[in-house]
Amino acid sequence: MEWKNELTRLLGITYPLIQAPMLGITTPAMVAAISNSGGLGSLPIGGLSPEKVIALIREVKSLTANPFAVNMFTYEPELAPDRSTFDGMQALIHELYQAAGFTPAAVKYEDLQVHSWREQLPVLIAAGIPSVSFTFGMPDADGFALMKAHRMHIMGTATSVAEAVALKAAGADIIVAQGIEAGGHRGSFLPGALSQTGTMALVPQIADRVHMPVIAAGGIMDARGIAAARMLGAAGVQMGSAFLRCHESLATPAQKAVLGQITDTDTQLTRAISGRWARGVRNKLITELEAAGEAFCSYPFQDMLTQPARKVAREADNPQWINIWAGQAAGKAQAWSAADIFAELVRETALLFPNNKFA
Ligand SMILES: Cc1cc2nc3c(=O)[nH]c(=O)nc-3n(C[C@H](O)[C@H](O)[C@H](O)COP(=O)(O)O)c2cc1C
Repeated sequence: MEWKNELTRLLGITYPLIQAPMLGITTPAMVAAISNSGGLGSLPIGGLSPEKVIALIREVKSLTANPFAVNMFTYEPELAPDRSTFDGMQALIHELYQAAGFTPAAVKYEDLQVHSWREQLPVLIAAGIPSVSFTFGMPDADGFALMKAHRMHIMGTATSVAEAVALKAAGADIIVAQGIEAGGHRGSFLPGALSQTGTMALVPQIADRVHMPVIAAGGIMDARGIAAARMLGAAGVQMGSAFLRCHESLATPAQKAVLGQITDTDTQLTRAISGRWARGVRNKLITELEAAGEAFCSYPFQDMLTQPARKVAREADNPQWINIWAGQAAGKAQAWSAADIFAELVRETALLFPNNKFA
């Protein structure tokens, strides 16, 4: 087994190790640290305005000359929720936060605004971004044609074999196979029951079906996970939770402290925070919103409703009332610099294979 393979050649990187895009956690400094180390940093821009995207890309480019990926949320938003569902959920959120001593700003129904991948893609093209990853679905045929015309490497997220097949048929070059262990939102996009397939089961089934580079994501925290993913047929890995506590992470001090103490059973899937299934550390925000038994708004409207409330809790550095997206193995994350975490992954993976070229 070697580090160099089809994926490293395609992406122009040294190691097939990808830092997962993590909206709300990943900074330009984190992206640049990984790309400067020979991996692929990923800049998350899901839902951000084109102006913000331009500024973030500029910042990453000021810190690295190496390739990095930009990550979009490629879903078609459903219509805004009906007024009474929206008002009822907002009242419930305010009641819970006020009981906890917070006064969140109100969200106005009239102000709900969604920035689509359609506004973002031209910005990425203008910036000459070589690799685009996406989750929550995929661009339409025009979007794929645009990405192909600009020779972008197209990386789509799949949580099932059927989603991987759909991504391949649409023109994706690389499949990110996201297992149920993964922190953050499920990338699931085909109708039907939520895929709950684990990384170990998902990766070989996708690899055998699509015959194209597959990146394993979910629960990979160290060299053992990297080696296992490669054995299962993945060309590379995408790791998010491993970087949650790094110096470059936007996680607050209390959030990092919680992450330093959690065990394998402390995360769960929930729709309470954003309206989409996502894995995070179980806290009061999740348990109390779920216990209230009210229907959540769909994504991204539930997310918009909880956002000002999470912001005040975040400012107070209160980990009970914020979202702490994290994977099932996040308790193994180290509080080092991103470059040191990356260097240790490379070092210990090479140690596992002393007699071959995995060095
Ligand atoms: C805090 C956090 C935020 C995330 N945000 C995104 C995102 O913006 N876009 C995306 O494609 N995936 C996102 N993910 C999912 C990751 O891409 C990846 O699937 C996951 O981190 C892999 O599992 P692991 O956390 O066990 O390493 C996020 C994950 C976490 C932990």
